[in-house]
Amino acid sequence: MVETSVPAVELRDVVKRFAEVIAVNHVSLKIAPGEFFALLGPSGSGKTTTLRMIGGFELPTEGEVFIEGEPQGYKPPYQRPVNTVFQNYALFPHMTVAQNIAFGLEMRGVPREEIRRRVGEMLELVRLSGYERRRPHQLSGGEQQRVALARALINRPKVLLLDEPLGALDLKLRKAMQLELKTIQEQVGITFIYVTHDQEEAITMADRIAVMNRGRVLQVGTPQEVYEHPENLFVADFIGDTNFIPVQVQQVGDGVQVLTVSGAVLLAHWGEPTLNAGSEAMMAVRPERMRLHRPEEVPQQEGWNAVEGIIRHVIYHGLDIRYEVHLAGGTTLHVRMPVGQGETRFQRGEHVVVSWPHAAARVFRSES
Ligand SMILES: Nc1ncnc2c1ncn2[C@@H]1O[C@H](COP(=O)(O)OP(=O)(O)O)[C@@H](O)[C@H]1O
Ligand SMILES: [Mg+2]
Repeated sequence: MVETSVPAVELRDVVKRFAEVIAVNHVSLKIAPGEFFALLGPSGSGKTTTLRMIGGFELPTEGEVFIEGEPQGYKPPYQRPVNTVFQNYALFPHMTVAQNIAFGLEMRGVPREEIRRRVGEMLELVRLSGYERRRPHQLSGGEQQRVALARALINRPKVLLLDEPLGALDLKLRKAMQLELKTIQEQVGITFIYVTHDQEEAITMADRIAVMNRGRVLQVGTPQEVYEHPENLFVADFIGDTNFIPVQVQQVGDGVQVLTVSGAVLLAHWGEPTLNAGSEAMMAVRPERMRLHRPEEVPQQEGWNAVEGIIRHVIYHGLDIRYEVHLAGGTTLHVRMPVGQGETRFQRGEHVVVSWPHAAARVFRSES
């Protein structure tokens, strides 16, 4: 395939040190034009520092940031074709909504008539037409955030940087704003780089996600890729719910054969490339990929693993039932079975067999 488009943003082997702290540790990324790209990771993983280096608020200790193919060097924020929306939206309290949104254009001396037209367009885009004369304190949190977005977008940046922009909103409003932001991004077609520690937020909004931990990017992929094919223990653990079964690797080759603490032999279709026979490892399986059976009703299934256990808890969740199953050897599994017609129900204390396909199992090195 010929690479036709220059990345909107590229980080090439970027490092940021603050005294002895390595906030960003050899990060390389390419973000495509028009992409909704999320930087996802726990607090302190280096997301904000990465974003600030793209925006020009920090300079890399090593490496280079490119925007549309141009190395940014020492350029200050106002000379970069980017705008930033922060968590505390920092609207000017004494200005009206319209004045807040117009601010960037006023500073650049854009003609009055054009400003009026573009402010109108922006108000329509963020669905705040009719609010132009209000002041920030007369707006809800979600409305203030929409003004902040309009204020950044009116400058027509090539790239919009957003640092946990919905962090201050309550859950319900956050969900609504997630959809709205995603829709607006699709409408304007501007590249969004979106920082969040909330994996669900990243999964619902982003085209691609970079999962960060301790200053490093551990995986880049679509939401489906990072959810279904995590490449290391951290990503498997951080994104979604996962069962981890401690195992010892017996054989690697076409898939991985492992031994559980209680002596069951299991197979996984994928293992981390660095695994060897004898390594201590973790088999990871999503709760929704597991099935429960009565011991006398276990189907003969090619390509499935099976272990025995005892049900310790049954939790009804509406669309599904969650079972906690204890295995001999001390491992606890969480199994999620849909509530449907004809599903067998199980009771606390029942002896069961848990099964899952080899294809749903992945094996990771235990140490991070
Ligand atoms: N200005 C600074 N001075 C010293 N350490 C900093 C500074 N900014 C960030 N750090 C450190 O760098 C690491 C990454 O921080 P940050 O990028 O803010 O992470 P995140 O946004 O993922 O929570 C943390 O250990 C943080 O304490
Ligand atoms: Mg941060």
